[in-house]
Amino acid sequence: MTAAPQHEPVMLHEAIEALAVRPGGRYVDATLGLGGHSSAIVAAAQPGGRLLAIDRDPRAITVAADRLAPFGDAVVLARGEFADIASICDAHGFRPVDGILFDLGVSSMQLDAPGGGFSFQRDEPLDMRMDPDGGVTAADIVNTYDEAELAALIWELGEERHSRRIARAIVARRPLHSTASLANLVEGVARRSGGKPGERIHPATRTFQALRIAVNGELDQIERALVDAETLLGPGGRIAVISFHSLEDRAVKTFFRDRARDCVCPPRQPVCTCDHRATLREISRKVSRPTDDEVARNPRSRSARLRVAESIVDRAAA
Ligand SMILES: C[S@@+](CC[C@H](N)C(=O)[O-])C[C@H]1O[C@@H](n2cnc3c(N)ncnc32)[C@H](O)[C@@H]1O
Repeated sequence: MTAAPQHEPVMLHEAIEALAVRPGGRYVDATLGLGGHSSAIVAAAQPGGRLLAIDRDPRAITVAADRLAPFGDAVVLARGEFADIASICDAHGFRPVDGILFDLGVSSMQLDAPGGGFSFQRDEPLDMRMDPDGGVTAADIVNTYDEAELAALIWELGEERHSRRIARAIVARRPLHSTASLANLVEGVARRSGGKPGERIHPATRTFQALRIAVNGELDQIERALVDAETLLGPGGRIAVISFHSLEDRAVKTFFRDRARDCVCPPRQPVCTCDHRATLREISRKVSRPTDDEVARNPRSRSARLRVAESIVDRAAA
């Protein structure tokens, strides 16, 4: 028997509190992973509560199924993309729901599993797909995009100031098939361009982030998912999102702010013509961060940010 991968769920207590989990409630974990948040949510929802947990990675479903087996029928597992949250919930009779959690990004199992290609700490094929069964790989992108497309991707999704030089070096050096070949190339560009003073992260971090976001369509997935997730909530139902990079956090913040406003007309327009009405209330305008203790225990939590909003409409009555 192989041991289940170890994983400490990020901001676990904060997430359970954010969702205001109550016995008998109905919840969705849109990012099952190793099932850490899921098991805490379903436990707090007993007696009588139910949880639908979604993941695009079949390995997550297998590992979490064991962990969640003690909860029997209270847990339903579904393989799929959370951009399809509405159809997945409808297929399993999960509408309305009392809370939905998104714990974005990759799991420690995906990062640590050999062959995933997410990390430049090991030399592996340049893959980076969370769902190993389909879609383009990071190698497909670096070996087929033209220089301008690569530069734009590395700039927009990695916020990397050497994006143009990195793109030029990739095009000159490709085909590139391994994480080490890409990491060494980026390191070389950074060295020749002069590093950022005080920079503590590896020079390839932002390029790898950009490729991972592109390979998995991460921003598009969360933007589409939030729009549909909101429609699944019953009155007072909550959406909690834990994100790990500023682009995702910005998408969540913008969505919550827009839905919490009664008017989205341009600020200089004297009379409102938009007919927009607030449907969500932000639980706090301030983002929550992990405690220093948690970051010391689990360094992967250091960039986590949690945002929470609550539905203020009764869709059943509408
Ligand atoms: C950070 S991990 C979640 C860890 C989990 N909360 C736990 O306690 O173990 C994110 C998980 O979400 C999945 N995931 C990321 N984006 C997804 C998407 N768009 N659709 C479905 N699953 C996704 C990943 O495959 C990964 O297993």
